[in-house]
Amino acid sequence: MARRKKIYEGKAKILYEGPEPGTIVQYFKDDATAFNAEKKDVIEGKGVLNNRLSEFFMAGLTAIGVPNHFLKRLNMREQLVRSCEIVPLEVIVRNYAAGSMSKRLGIEEGTQLPRPIIEYCLKDDALGDPLVSEEHIAAFGWASQQDMDDILSLALRVNDYMSGVMYAVGIRLVDFKIEVGRVYDGDFQRLIVADEISPDSCRLWDIETGRKLDKDVFRRDLGSLTDAYTEVAQRLGVMPKGATGMMKPTLIN
Ligand code: TMP
Ligand code: ASP
Repeated sequence: MARRKKIYEGKAKILYEGPEPGTIVQYFKDDATAFNAEKKDVIEGKGVLNNRLSEFFMAGLTAIGVPNHFLKRLNMREQLVRSCEIVPLEVIVRNYAAGSMSKRLGIEEGTQLPRPIIEYCLKDDALGDPLVSEEHIAAFGWASQQDMDDILSLALRVNDYMSGVMYAVGIRLVDFKIEVGRVYDGDFQRLIVADEISPDSCRLWDIETGRKLDKDVFRRDLGSLTDAYTEVAQRLGVMPKGATGMMKPTLIN
């Protein structure tokens, strides 16, 4: 196969030029990082699981009419996505207090919030993705008021979808992060959900036991990350029950 042109390499994914204009191949690596890459490891099979899980969530969003970049899965580690201009914000939706919000505001982890709370962080690794307000976003022109209305609507729709899908398999969606991208259709531009939706970018707790099934397992050294992600994949029916965490993952198509 001819060598593809690498467009960008991030901490967990590599983007290659796609086969047609306006497309990108998104490759999921096994690398795991936390605390702005201060903590790093390679977790065998993580990329395969996240590729499949992100496909599952994005395809589900497409089915209910939430626009996103996913086009199709190509193989175990790659998916074809629509190319877009990433808005330089991490959009976080929280249903229960956890992580940085618990630390910042002194709210015990697991406390149910009175309503979903949306936070924005500037996508800037050198600054450690700082929390920013809508005032900052408007004043510095990172997104327009129309963009912010659209981002809020997308984020809440993703939250309702993901909360329901997870609840159905006994998992609480505590919080998650999405990224959005801008696409142009003729004279019109609109925002779509981009990047990935996976246990790397969500907090997922077993409803019965509280067991963490997301990247906090890695951040906080709580055991096998592959086992946790495999559990999520199995409950959602994207990997057969009985498959072990160590990858020879026979993924259900
Ligand atoms: P936080 O509590 O550390 O701010 O994280 C909130 C949510 O965002 C959590 O589900 C994990 C996710 N997240 C990312 O996807 N990428 C990141 O770089 C960070 C810090 C959090
Ligand atoms: N993605 C971020 C990093 O690599 C942080 C995190 O997910 O905790 O450092």
